Amino acid sequence: MTGVDGRPAATLGDVLTEHRRRRFVGRATEIGLFRAALDSAVAPPFSVLHVYGPGGIGKTSLLEVLGAIAADAGATVARIDGHGLDPSPASVLEVLAETLAIPADDGPICPSEDGGRLVLLVDAYEQLAPLDDWFRTRLLPRLHASAITVIAGRDQPTRAWMADPAWGGLLRVVSLRNLSPDDSHAFLRKAGLDPALHDRIVRLTYGHPLGLALLTDVVARGAEVDSHVLPLDLVEALIPHFVDTVPDHRHRRALETCAVARCTNEALLRHVLGENDVRDVFTWLRELSFVELRPDGLAPHDLARDVLDADLRWRDFDSYKHVFHRTREHSLAALRTNAGRA
Ligand SMILES: Nc1ncnc2c1ncn2[C@@H]1O[C@H](COP(=O)(O)OP(=O)(O)OP(=O)(O)O)[C@@H](O)[C@H]1O
Ligand SMILES: [Mg+2]
Repeated sequence: MTGVDGRPAATLGDVLTEHRRRRFVGRATEIGLFRAALDSAVAPPFSVLHVYGPGGIGKTSLLEVLGAIAADAGATVARIDGHGLDPSPASVLEVLAETLAIPADDGPICPSEDGGRLVLLVDAYEQLAPLDDWFRTRLLPRLHASAITVIAGRDQPTRAWMADPAWGGLLRVVSLRNLSPDDSHAFLRKAGLDPALHDRIVRLTYGHPLGLALLTDVVARGAEVDSHVLPLDLVEALIPHFVDTVPDHRHRRALETCAVARCTNEALLRHVLGENDVRDVFTWLRELSFVELRPDGLAPHDLARDVLDADLRWRDFDSYKHVFHRTREHSLAALRTNAGRA
């Protein structure tokens, strides 16, 4: 089907992509890094750019922009989206075969048509975790040395990438953070939001892009936004982006503790859960994408903390009080016994 000007009619997907691209702000460092690799004459300064960060931080949005930049530069862009893809080599190769020629004998993988440099964009890599070794040792080595792969996922690269000295110089790792205050304001200007509300919205969301987008939407629909409290529909909308599933009651308690306490360590968890062995829940907590390792324990990203805290207060205030009191007891006891910086 063609449009009035004879070009293929745009799909709704094209319109949405264009809309998102117009709203895009910031990420100058990541884009600069990618452009430098794309502009390199022969071997790029890195072969794999691994971008990681919690849900809603802007990984997919960034990949979309990088894909457009690569296509404008004449590269062949191949995409793999871990969402809904069966994590098996066969299904990944099947997706790649739409754009690339894949010899059956493990030979080099190239663009099907002579389409310049190959750029491979892999999104939702956390969903492809079972294939991590296969990507590193089997798939990527089959790409041309000039190819650039961008992997975006919720987690850092696994230790195997770091432990392999051959990957050392070929891998670049970027932790995607909240938008800066300037970029957050630019986002709100582009969204056409009343400037009198900008400071409040940036403060409430800390510049978390999905938080900004959802809160902008809430305000645009005419809701009043308190300067200190996240609207509950925003909390509800954000929760699934931070936590997919919580295995059981113990894990939920651990999550709640992490939201309430400044920093969470195993001793605190033992006290709150009333158990001697909490290693399994601590390890689970540590591996959540929005939880950061600090010298004295684990702490959630700023917006995730506020969202979990608001969710708990609203859903189960008795549980909130229990976790709060146990955490306070533990902190007060620590204050009495610790000395110096601790
Ligand atoms: N740089 C940006 N400029 C403007 N808006 C952005 C930017 N990054 C993200 N957003 C907004 O935030 C929303 C969430 O971003 P995105 O889907 O890219 O997050 P994600 O990191 O891929 O999350 P997930 O891990 O859940 O897939 C986007 O739909 C968009 O509205
Ligand atoms: Mg995404």
